[in-house]
Amino acid sequence: MAEDSLMRGAVIRSWGTALPPKVVTNHDLEQTLDTSDEWIVERTGIRERRVGGTTSGLAIEAGRQALDRAGWDPSTVDLVILATTTPDQQVPASASTVQNELGIAGGAFDLNAACSGFVYALIAGHGLIGAGMSRVLLIGAETLSRITDWDDRGTAILFADGAGAVTLEAVDGPGQLLGWDLGSDGSARHILDADIGGYLEMDGREVFRRAVRVMVESGNTALERAGVSASDISLVVPHQANIRIIESACTRLDIPMERAVSVLDRTGNTSSASIPLALADAADAGRISPGDLVLLVGFGAGMTWASAVLRWQP
Ligand code: COA
Repeated sequence: MAEDSLMRGAVIRSWGTALPPKVVTNHDLEQTLDTSDEWIVERTGIRERRVGGTTSGLAIEAGRQALDRAGWDPSTVDLVILATTTPDQQVPASASTVQNELGIAGGAFDLNAACSGFVYALIAGHGLIGAGMSRVLLIGAETLSRITDWDDRGTAILFADGAGAVTLEAVDGPGQLLGWDLGSDGSARHILDADIGGYLEMDGREVFRRAVRVMVESGNTALERAGVSASDISLVVPHQANIRIIESACTRLDIPMERAVSVLDRTGNTSSASIPLALADAADAGRISPGDLVLLVGFGAGMTWASAVLRWQP
């Protein structure tokens, strides 16, 4: 491997999304749970979510859209990384199904860092491009509805299904990634978990408290490493868990809420899929211009966290 390949940067070329057609509104949940639309909107910001499909099926749809938009022949793709906590099977990786169905020539693996998974995959993708790869497809896809107890009002109101994907390509020069941070505090793994074959269990208040803290710490670390300040950031793309978590974190990061992307009112919490879904929504809406600085911030079960500062240049 050429020594200078380790210096090679990468940029996002395109993006794609997939949401299952079935919509479950808060009013639908009122029929089976002791809850109300008003309570869910006030405490979380979520109004409806999408449910259904398989993780690989959603990943294939989002991945195909991203490949088509980039104009990439799948045989030129070196690797697909599928960030997911809900693979279709325990073995093999769902990424192998995606690789085969999309006709990708390169390697494939799943990555589980819970809701930080997509940003972990993004950082890993940059590293592998630095190590010599040319084209990487990154996907976050989940079918959390399969591991949600629909009789538990503490979790059923939050979690949902979906997928988002981006194509990442090598460029000459430093590329888009200016600074990043990732981490984990496994001592807090019991506050949000699901046994194999079981349902998600969560201490909501504790997750909330820690989520705000790690978003602020990790976001600030990435900003510092990028050599930029919060006021330089044009857009924050946070993990879509709860609008109050996003508001608290933005306040503490000193970034106005108008600069934060939120799609959770329509998607709920789709874990690994949430950041690419939000990024795609902002990009499609024309909210990001070439040269803008974008801060991605994820946190999730583990607890894990991951942040990245990108100079947008698709
Ligand atoms: N509908 C109506 N009432 C509900 C409810 C629901 N769906 N869920 C809980 N309640 C009740 C509780 O039983 C409690 O009642 P009590 O005061 O009589 O005991 C009251 O509402 C407050 O509960 P609490 O758990 O303190 O609410 P909260 O403001 O912390 O909101 C969450 C609960 C789950 C919305 C919030 O803690 C949260 O979003 N946490 C983070 C979860 C998360 O992001 N997880 C994913 C991380 S990747």
